[in-house]
Amino acid sequence: MKYFRMPFVGLLSATLLVTGVMGVQTAAADEVSPVSLRALAERADLRIGTAVDMAALGEDTTYRRATGREFNSVTAENVMKWEVVEPTRGTYDWSGADELVRFARERGQVVRGHTLVWHSQLPGWLTAGVQDGSIGAGELRGILRKHITTEVKRYKGRIQQWDVVNEVFEEDGSLRNSIWLQKLGPSYIADAFRWAHAADPKAKLFLNDYNVEGVNAKSTAYYELAKRLRAEGVPVQGFGIQGHLAIQYGFPGDVAGNLARFERLGMQTAFTEVDVRMILPVDEEKLATQATYFRGLLDACLGARSCRSFTVWGFTDKYSWVPGVFAGQGAATLTGEDFGRKPAYGAVGERLAEGR
Ligand code: XIL
Repeated sequence: MKYFRMPFVGLLSATLLVTGVMGVQTAAADEVSPVSLRALAERADLRIGTAVDMAALGEDTTYRRATGREFNSVTAENVMKWEVVEPTRGTYDWSGADELVRFARERGQVVRGHTLVWHSQLPGWLTAGVQDGSIGAGELRGILRKHITTEVKRYKGRIQQWDVVNEVFEEDGSLRNSIWLQKLGPSYIADAFRWAHAADPKAKLFLNDYNVEGVNAKSTAYYELAKRLRAEGVPVQGFGIQGHLAIQYGFPGDVAGNLARFERLGMQTAFTEVDVRMILPVDEEKLATQATYFRGLLDACLGARSCRSFTVWGFTDKYSWVPGVFAGQGAATLTGEDFGRKPAYGAVGERLAEGR
């Protein structure tokens, strides 16, 4: 399916329309100067980011060029996660993370660090050791401290925002029953922020989760946690909203109100992993709905002084994580598998052009 023959309105839209696919220009595009999301975002004082698939970056030239051209922020989709950086205890593999940080530096992009403490994608030696009892609570706390300190120090001064803890609440607002909570108790969260701050005092330190776009039990749990931690002097500066939406579930309510309450705490906010999936097959109506969802989240961000970073979780359906995880769903990103721009790409460009 080719996506670029979509009805846009307005001058800028016409530009977006004729510049065609992200990597390849259509014939008419030669006469028009290309407008990138990055250029539009810079005028709106916004970092527009994407998750980066390092395998694709290495082998797909269209992907690599678009990553540099369209974005001024990048997040490692996987290569900064614990299972990747310390596959064997005490043996580190920083190759992917180093490469991404270098790629970003060469292109004047900032990097969002993702992620230090999570219940998922942990190294096998760690989960096995906790399970069989060979790693006790005291040792586990030391292991976590060392992990955070080592990784944050390695990229000190090169990471704009770190997702320090990821997905620590359940939907009902209770703390997630992870190995961290089970073995270390709830204080692991404050500890993680203190350790990260000691390792890189300038990086902005974020909480991050999904299903927290609007005001609900889970986002309220974050709000209460952030308020308490900040009152206690714990260095937590940001609230990251992943933004994994699905059109069949509707658009979340009161996103602006949610951002505003974190802003009132003096915190930064960010959309960190936006994608909008749909039940396949794709049709024009679903794509149009998807475009309004992307635009809706971006609109909330641009409407909040605290929100200076908006990241999509991949920009092409070619490498999106969605079909592999949500059976029967997909087409969740801004461009198709052929990098052809979908209505969502046009909607994001138009909203960026409107500014704050
Ligand atoms: C996903 C990646 O996109 C996949 O490649 C990987 O197999 C699993 O993790 N929330 C997060 C991200 O915080 O790290 C997840 O990324 C998607 C959900």
